[in-house]
Parts: sequence; C-alpha cells; structure tokens
Amino acid sequence: MKPRIMRYAIVYVSTASNNLKDEEIQNILSSSNTWNNKNDITGLLLFSEGNFFQIIEGEKKTITELFETIQEDDRHHNIMQIFGKDIHKDAYDGYVSDCVSDQSDYEPEKFQHYLNHIKVLDKTAQKAVENILKVFLPI
Ligand SMILES: Cc1cc2nc3c(=O)[nH]c(=O)nc-3n(C[C@H](O)[C@H](O)[C@H](O)COP(=O)(O)O)c2cc1C
Repeated sequence: MKPRIMRYAIVYVSTASNNLKDEEIQNILSSSNTWNNKNDITGLLLFSEGNFFQIIEGEKKTITELFETIQEDDRHHNIMQIFGKDIHKDAYDGYVSDCVSDQSDYEPEKFQHYLNHIKVLDKTAQKAVENILKVFLPI
C-alpha cells in the first residue's frame, strides 16, 4: 500500500502593503496559482478591500516552508494565522485565486464555489472559514 503523505492546512488573513499596486496584486494571485497548482497545493487566495485571505493545503513540509516564505513577504503585514491543522482527506480541486475587491464584479454564486474548495477541512474548520468568508466578501 502506498504510504499516505501527511497533509496540512494553514489559514490566515493579512493586510496588503499601503503602496501595493493593482498590477502587483494580480501578480501575487497569478504566480501563487501557478506555483501552487504545480506543487499539489490546494486552497484559496482572495484579495478584498486591502486584505488577503488565504488557505494553503498540501504536503506538511511544503506548506510550512511556503508559509514561512509568505510571512517574510513585505507586500503584506498584520499576518494573523487562524489555524494550522493536519488534514485527513484527499486533496480537492486545485488552487483558486481571486480578486473580489470590486463590489460590482462580485457574483454571489462564487461563495459556493469557494466553499467547495475547503471540503478538505474538517467540519469545524469549514464552519470557521465560512464565517470568515461571510465577513470578508463584499456581499
Ligand atoms: C498574500 C500573499 C500570498 C502569497 N501566496 C503564495 C502562494 O500561495 N504560493 C506561492 O508560491 N507564493 C505565494 N506568495 C509569494 C511568496 O511570498 C513569494 O514571493 C514566492 O513564493 C516566491 O518566493 P521566492 O522569491 O523565495 O522564490 C504570496 C505572497 C503574498 C503577499
């Protein structure tokens, strides 16, 4: 039997640096998407009203190392970790990055789409993320 790799999820919110341009935000979203999908990391990265919300889920070592890199990134600050948890389910559906800052662009159906991306988390964690998303998204 194939040994199961220990998977881990980290969820945090942070504040974007004051002088961060739209272009730089798009750059963070798209390069994270590319790297994460190549490295079997699932989750969600959202930007709204000057804040980031991120879930990274994957092989434990990869996730803890990536989070160290992210914490050192000076394009954001006030990084508040909500949780770090072992994951016992199989990976879900790849990585999603989205900029939801512009209220006129926001489609409520996206909420369900985001929730589908956190199904790897246990029920309590899913509920916590769902509550944060309700505050975070411009609904
Ligand atoms: C809010 C935020 C989230 C980020 N999320 C990721 C991510 O999920 N994956 C990733 O590869 N880089 C992410 N980055 C970028 C990393 O901080 C870093 O720039 C990138 O991994 C390249 O690292 P390196 O220069 O050490 O190679 C994020 C940056 C910010 C500001």
